Amino acid sequence: MCGIVGYIGPREAAGICYEGLRRLEYRGYDSAGIAVIRDGRMDVVKRVGKLRILGETLAAEPMPGPLAIGHTRWATHGKPSETNSHPHLSCDGKIAVVHNGIIENYAELRDQLTAEGHEFKSQTDTEVIAHLVEKLYDGDIFQAVLKAIEVMRGAYAIAVITEHEPDKIVAARLRSPLVIGIGEGENYVASDMAAVRQETDKVYVIDDGEAAIVTRDDIKLFKVTGEPIAKDPYVIPWPAEAAAKGEHKHFMHKEIHEQPEAMRACLAGRITEAADRVILESLNMTPEEIRGLKKVILTACGTAYHAGLVGRFMIEKLARIPAECDLAAELQARDPVILDNTLGIVISQSGETMDTLLALRELKAKGAKVVAVVNRVDSVIARESDGVVYIQAGPEIGVASTKAYTGQILTLEMIAVHFAEVRQTAPEAELKALRRALLACPDQAVELLRREPDVVKLAEKYWQLHNSLYLGRGINLPSAMEGALKLKEISYVHAEAYSAGEMKHGPIALVCPDLYTVAIAVQGQVYEQMVGNMQEIRARSGPVIGVVNDGDEAIREHLDDPILVPPCPELVSPITIALPLQLLAYHIADIRGEDIDQPRNLAKTVTVE
Ligand code: F6R
Repeated sequence: MCGIVGYIGPREAAGICYEGLRRLEYRGYDSAGIAVIRDGRMDVVKRVGKLRILGETLAAEPMPGPLAIGHTRWATHGKPSETNSHPHLSCDGKIAVVHNGIIENYAELRDQLTAEGHEFKSQTDTEVIAHLVEKLYDGDIFQAVLKAIEVMRGAYAIAVITEHEPDKIVAARLRSPLVIGIGEGENYVASDMAAVRQETDKVYVIDDGEAAIVTRDDIKLFKVTGEPIAKDPYVIPWPAEAAAKGEHKHFMHKEIHEQPEAMRACLAGRITEAADRVILESLNMTPEEIRGLKKVILTACGTAYHAGLVGRFMIEKLARIPAECDLAAELQARDPVILDNTLGIVISQSGETMDTLLALRELKAKGAKVVAVVNRVDSVIARESDGVVYIQAGPEIGVASTKAYTGQILTLEMIAVHFAEVRQTAPEAELKALRRALLACPDQAVELLRREPDVVKLAEKYWQLHNSLYLGRGINLPSAMEGALKLKEISYVHAEAYSAGEMKHGPIALVCPDLYTVAIAVQGQVYEQMVGNMQEIRARSGPVIGVVNDGDEAIREHLDDPILVPPCPELVSPITIALPLQLLAYHIADIRGEDIDQPRNLAKTVTVE
């Protein structure tokens, strides 16, 4: 998982590439590099560590020039080092390549090229591209790249420049995202629209098997077979500020606060004003298909998996369809039974996660129809699915997923209600109450964010403890799992999530004054049982933070500190409960001084198995 950028035009290309990389740093951040061509000569700088180290080098030793490509890396082949950082160069140093993806047959290509006399410097798969293009170069860099593509297997978004033709960038894509930003007298290449949004709101979204020649004044698009193509520019629907932190200290904080707006965008036009119907045309399913469903298999990774668990609960409970939810990385090994009329639902913020993509393909290969719940428009998972419901959350840049999670649940809940409407498996009064509750989520989110200072006080009280338990039951077991994941991934505090009912079967042995428990005990089906579990923990001197409803005075004697959430139907509560748990994780990590937007060892999107 990496990010690539390129710029050609009258301004200082290295600086523009660096700014683009800053917006792509969420894709990887263990090393970075830029290659510039000026007066027909290539100049390269690479640095290990966060991107700002590259920025400091560029500030101290500027690299002027009108043409540049850049890269931010998350290591897959070869450890983070200057040698393994991109751009990678040909033997003569005249061709430079940046690449996001994996060249599967790189070992074989490397052996061949080495036997032919090419000298490799790095342990990366990408370096073979530079040498291959060098070998195939015959006076036309575009043709050389196309020929190289013919022998490369795997996934790639690449940008290539050469001293021989310092007036162009050649770019191509297969299974890794790529856009060409359209400027005036200048043009851009990037992995993601967020990288160019500061400069332009128009891009060409490059599809699999397509390539581009980008010059100052022109962008020519082709199939990788060489035949020219035409396509309409895509106008980026969100403002430039959406990809910047604004007044927030971290992207994660900004994105937590964007949830009311993101929820409104997700709901817009999908629940009628009178709350009497859900409209989800992009599901691409007829009423007959919905009525005929025999089974639903949801699949996703990490936070999106937790949203999937909520979706499974909702679909089974309301639409009365047997539903399973698999970790995408486990789906293949389980070899699930696909009946006639099985629907797969894949959930992904990025639409690029490799495990989820492979699970999607597995479900389709076994005959399931697949619907995607995705944030990133036009992503590979969206394209390969039979239907897609976009969650409309806007760009999510912080590594820890927040607004995408609540958007995923909101979308899955709408799908479940829609299925129940069509199948007539739940009383209309219940469905109407749920639709109303979903429509009320944005306002409840505003109220929960207003209460942030209360969560800050809790973080100040508990940040020094190294161990925590998150407990829930029923539809809020996934909420406990997500709360624990948020805390561990950004604060490195050990956080375990359990069904509260499981405590007595082992984990209760952990309980002691140094381990705090976050217990989700909002009103609903499992409330009484949760209260019993909280009593058991306090009887063993374990401090308890209770996530409880406003006005529930009776529960206060069973907890040390409350997190108050406004009441709503239990089935909708995972959406609102998510916000204070995100804030708790955020503030604990902030007090501990951690690098919240770029936690160690993680990348925003995991495009490897
Ligand atoms: C955690 C987090 C990850 C992602 C997971 C799936 O905060 O963000 O667990 O949810 O890697 O990513 P997507 O949704 O892009 O498929």
